[in-house]
Amino acid sequence: MVNQNIIIALSKGRIFKDTLPLLAHVGITPQDDPETTRKLILDTNHPHIKLLILRASDVPTYVQYGAADMGVAGKDVLIEHGGEGLFELLDLNIARCRLMVAGRPDAMLQTGRLRVATKYTHSAECYFAEQGRQIELIKLYGSMELAPLVDLADCIVDVVDTGNTLRANGLEPLLHIADISSRLIVNRAAQKLKHRVIADLVKQLDAYLHAGATP
Ligand code: ATP
Ligand code: PRP
Repeated sequence: MVNQNIIIALSKGRIFKDTLPLLAHVGITPQDDPETTRKLILDTNHPHIKLLILRASDVPTYVQYGAADMGVAGKDVLIEHGGEGLFELLDLNIARCRLMVAGRPDAMLQTGRLRVATKYTHSAECYFAEQGRQIELIKLYGSMELAPLVDLADCIVDVVDTGNTLRANGLEPLLHIADISSRLIVNRAAQKLKHRVIADLVKQLDAYLHAGATP
């Protein structure tokens, strides 16, 4: 008899906040708020559904290895992860932004090897390889906007939404790499063994998303 418990991996902050109304629509309410509790496994009102609270970039790994059945992750994070062992079930259309090359307005005029600072090393490598541009990658874990200001890099690859962070630091969006939104993902085993429960969940979410609801 297959266990039909469902574990869903989420990250706190914008993904949790934007996923809450979607979960509420399918009748799932967490018992704690991840912004105030120190718990990393949250019970829900549903006896068979639990939520794991992780770093955004760790969500695909937990789902890939089966520590979670499903998860919500940004397409930026999924591209970096590579997607091995994962299926994207739905585009949830939340946490929307653009993956971009950004820098000072004249950054791309620089000849020779471009110094690119980013946490999105895979995306940056693929993008500049397609453009036929030689780069030196500088791996960072956050606050990428600082790198061009202190001449650590010529440009950055990061997500941009309003553009406020770039503007506040005298930088501009320069080149568009990809449109990003968060996806509902599942691993192969859960997709097969818990198909009925997952298909039901996806059907309800899909109906909600296509009814024009703003999550
Ligand atoms: P980590 O903690 O693993 O470094 P993070 O700090 O990027 O991840 P969040 O800031 O919560 O985590 O972002 C989660 C997801 O939301 C990102 O993967 C991206 O898809 C999207 N996102 C990031 N920044 C923005 C933004 N300013 N506006 C809209 N969506 C965003
Ligand atoms: C993200 C990203 C940018 C900013 C872009 O940072 O790394 O710095 O959002 O959004 P904007 O175009 O609306 O200004 P976030 O707010 O997630 O902070 P963190 O990644 O440093 O936690």
